[in-house]
Amino acid sequence: MSISENKIKEEITKRWDYSSQRYDTYHGHGIKTEEETVAWTAFFRQVLPGERLNILDIGCGTGEISLVLAGMGHKVTGIDLSEKMLDRAKEKSKALAGRHGELAVDFRIGDAESLPFEPGSFDAVVTRHVLWTLPNPQKAVDSWTEMLKDGGKVVVIDCLWNDGSLETRLRMSAFILLMRIVERNDLSKDRYTPEINAALPNSRGLRPDTARSYLEKAGLKDVGLIRLDDLVDIQKRHMPFRYKISYKLNYYAVHGKKELYH
Ligand SMILES: C[S@@+](CC[C@H](N)C(=O)[O-])C[C@H]1O[C@@H](n2cnc3c(N)ncnc32)[C@H](O)[C@@H]1O
Repeated sequence: MSISENKIKEEITKRWDYSSQRYDTYHGHGIKTEEETVAWTAFFRQVLPGERLNILDIGCGTGEISLVLAGMGHKVTGIDLSEKMLDRAKEKSKALAGRHGELAVDFRIGDAESLPFEPGSFDAVVTRHVLWTLPNPQKAVDSWTEMLKDGGKVVVIDCLWNDGSLETRLRMSAFILLMRIVERNDLSKDRYTPEINAALPNSRGLRPDTARSYLEKAGLKDVGLIRLDDLVDIQKRHMPFRYKISYKLNYYAVHGKKELYH
């Protein structure tokens, strides 16, 4: 018997609630340096030119990307299934407002596959490290596209983090062992069960072509690929050895534009 959709979402939420306290400490997730913030800012300027855009950050988690976008002057709505991830995002947003003035950012509970917004509400939908964890990725991208105004863009940032090769498996095992020894962090609790993984078509991450095809099938135009090697280089320079040994990511962004009347 296959596991119900509600049960899948419940388990996914539980896992991210559990991960919420440590999430920002993980290199590659938490933005660790000013240099990395500058690189993300430059990337978003390139892919989303324009001032004060109305942006939806899907699966915003602890708000790392939402806060970069809000810091650029955009109006950002971040949604996520996990209340505890969102609590971290709200705390960080409050702390930043204390230092730099109020940011136009709103974090709220929501499901990436069933959005609580009116169609045509946003100039852009952005999502980082989320498509892989959705049971119905095409349905999700279709609904994100519906949320866009004419001329709006979907931007998906992701990677294939486990290609199933022996090398990757060895690297990941070494990472798990070193995290247990050095950080006393048992990463087995930071993972989905085999049952949940079986319900996710991209549980090991996605190749760029897979992400691309979701955008194309959703009817987005001018679908393009940007490799994020420069960002990975910055992240790598600041990583401890235990991360460097496992971090061999083919990190990318795919983006596409909604064109209604052309
Ligand atoms: C790897 S984290 C990425 C967080 C954030 N986007 C970032 O780049 O740091 C994945 C996030 O997706 C959220 N998530 C998973 N499934 C979701 C869904 N169906 N709807 C909304 N959020 C979801 C999780 O709660 C978690 O916060």
